[in-house]
Amino acid sequence: MINNNPHNNPENRGQWSSKLGFILAAAGSAVGLGNLWKFPYLVGKNGGAAFLLVYILIVIGLGFTLMLGELVLGRKTQLNPLGAYRSINKKWGFAGGLGIVTSFIILSYYSVIGGWILAYIIRSLTGAFSGDTVAIFEELIAGVQEPLFMHFLFLFATVLIVYAGVSGGIEKYSKILMPTLFGFLIILSIRGITLPGASKGLEFYLKPDFTQLTTTAILAALGQVFFSLSLGMGAMITYGSYLPKDTNLPKSSVIIPLIDSFIAFLSGLVVLPAVFALGFEAGEGPGLMFITLPAVFAKMPFGIFFGSIFFILVLFAALTSSISLLEVCVSYVVDELKIRRRYACIILGILLFLVGVPSSLSLGLLKGVKIFGMVFFDLADFIASTILMPIGGLLLCIFIGWIWGSKKALKEVTNNGEIKFAASSLWEIAIKYVVPIIIIIVFFTTLTNS
Ligand code: TRP
Repeated sequence: MINNNPHNNPENRGQWSSKLGFILAAAGSAVGLGNLWKFPYLVGKNGGAAFLLVYILIVIGLGFTLMLGELVLGRKTQLNPLGAYRSINKKWGFAGGLGIVTSFIILSYYSVIGGWILAYIIRSLTGAFSGDTVAIFEELIAGVQEPLFMHFLFLFATVLIVYAGVSGGIEKYSKILMPTLFGFLIILSIRGITLPGASKGLEFYLKPDFTQLTTTAILAALGQVFFSLSLGMGAMITYGSYLPKDTNLPKSSVIIPLIDSFIAFLSGLVVLPAVFALGFEAGEGPGLMFITLPAVFAKMPFGIFFGSIFFILVLFAALTSSISLLEVCVSYVVDELKIRRRYACIILGILLFLVGVPSSLSLGLLKGVKIFGMVFFDLADFIASTILMPIGGLLLCIFIGWIWGSKKALKEVTNNGEIKFAASSLWEIAIKYVVPIIIIIVFFTTLTNS
């Protein structure tokens, strides 16, 4: 392939070609396994509607603040996370570097789960879900060749899209994948709601019962907001860095979390009423999508059709997220190590595959190998989601609030006063005090609980 697209060479880092393209790409990064797999099972496990409400409150209080923080830092510096921090304060490059490491770790096992989704699409198309779905799942994850091959395929697809560049690859695919996802989800949620007996599920999902709300639930909601909005590791710094200077950042920082939360809400509507209607347990946990849902599809009229659509949809969502994780690493390698985008993609793809191998095998063959009492897969997730992401978010707040200075950041947010930002003083208070304090509290509570 001859690279004659000026956006693809390292001298010109690339830019979104349209505002809609950017919004869809950023929303694509946010909408992923976090929304379709994690969110419904967290709601199911943590008491239903009350959890939903807490989640929404946290998105409003914390999600918008951090989203704007990351986007403004990226657009100001037009650099990868490490370069972005460093260009404002030489000593702070480490904060961006940490984000790059985090995204590498997350992608190494995210792609293992992405591989399971691929395997599930095949199983769903062949009608395998009429069998014992617990056995199907356990057999898959404990396997060797199949999960590794699917992990490879998922990464390969991710590399292929990122390889094609910012506007030619990521933006183009997000523009197709996101609306398709949205359309499918609407169809599936109508299917879910109209199943006989769905009303119990709807009540569970929409009628809050605050006696069900625990501290663990609130902690889980907070962690989920970080993960679902792709915050705390520079993904949005990177996407912000491809923005032209005239974009309205406050508006984007509201729209992206809105889309993300709406999709999470919809996937709850797809999953929960169906689970109740067909008499399954909503508190099943992580297996809800891989074990319970296939059983639900198997019992449903036209289950093979709806089940296949569902898993294809999850694949789309996972891909638009994995490309953002890879893009963070690629932008670093392209900017800082001056390696061509195409080589960067291939080298990183190979490394990610290799690091993912022990994660995948740790659920079967290497089950007995434990580090700090965890198998490799759990360890990678623990280090990235429980430790590195909150630290990344905290560093971002301190950096923007105190090192760069919230006043200077606001100048960039408002394009030197051209854009009205009514909530500017609220945002300052949030990023300097409220959000860092919340993160610290959650960080230590989670660590002492785990
Ligand atoms: N937000 C994605 C999801 O919900 C996962 C993800 C993509 C992510 N990029 C990220 C999480 C960056 C944290 C940071 O599945």
